[in-house]
Amino acid sequence: MNEKILIGTNWKMTKTLAEGRDYLRRLIEIKKSLSSKIELFVIPSFPHLYPLKELLQESDIKLGAQTMHWEERGAYTGEVSPLMLEEAGVDLIELGHSERRQYYNENDIDLNKKVKAALQKRITPLLCIGENSVDKARNTGNEKIRKQLKVSLYGLTKEEISNVQIAYEPVWAIGSKGVPASAEYVREQHSNIRHLLIELFDETGEDVPILYGGSVNEQNFESYLNCKNVNGLFIGRSAWDIQSFEKILLTIDKNY
Ligand code: 13P
Repeated sequence: MNEKILIGTNWKMTKTLAEGRDYLRRLIEIKKSLSSKIELFVIPSFPHLYPLKELLQESDIKLGAQTMHWEERGAYTGEVSPLMLEEAGVDLIELGHSERRQYYNENDIDLNKKVKAALQKRITPLLCIGENSVDKARNTGNEKIRKQLKVSLYGLTKEEISNVQIAYEPVWAIGSKGVPASAEYVREQHSNIRHLLIELFDETGEDVPILYGGSVNEQNFESYLNCKNVNGLFIGRSAWDIQSFEKILLTIDKNY
């Protein structure tokens, strides 16, 4: 089983380059004081990838991008390719975040192509999945999650799945209007996801990291990390403020 605790933040569209630099300088210092069991990643906006990669030269903090096309080149105005992200030195690609699904029609079929394209470039796909409030109300959340996983991971070999990470983020728990999920709910959902990964990829599915995200904050993060099959946290708002993130990281370092 993966012994590492993966902790990352998706900056979404919230920071200028100057703010990103200040934040990252501080995070690099904090990371030096943490044990190596904590693996950290940050996911800034596209224009900041090159300058922030420079800053990260001496650090083992991983750098991610927020979305990606699956083709290397082509007439796809506004898109960024796996080749370009490889050139920028990106370690990780966030795919299928609920905001991308909701506002930009990112769908499971395309996500399957993106996952495969990322793996070809040795960029780790962080595949985001989760049911919305309607699914939850109608009790169809599990079907939604199963479909997301089965379609997005279709055709992957065992070797390939061992390089994929999953972020489970119930859509109703994300963002300023989100309602934090109970730890019990998170435990159950992560267990369901783990079972499906094992169903699809046999024993290799046991080692795929499953992160939890959605209104993770200083008050509730430990309750989630205490759940079996929660191998890390994917944090928005509570990590955008470096002081709040520092508190979370130091507590994890001390208690886990
Ligand atoms: P919040 O932690 O702000 O709810 O955002 C979570 C998220 O969307 C991470 O990708």
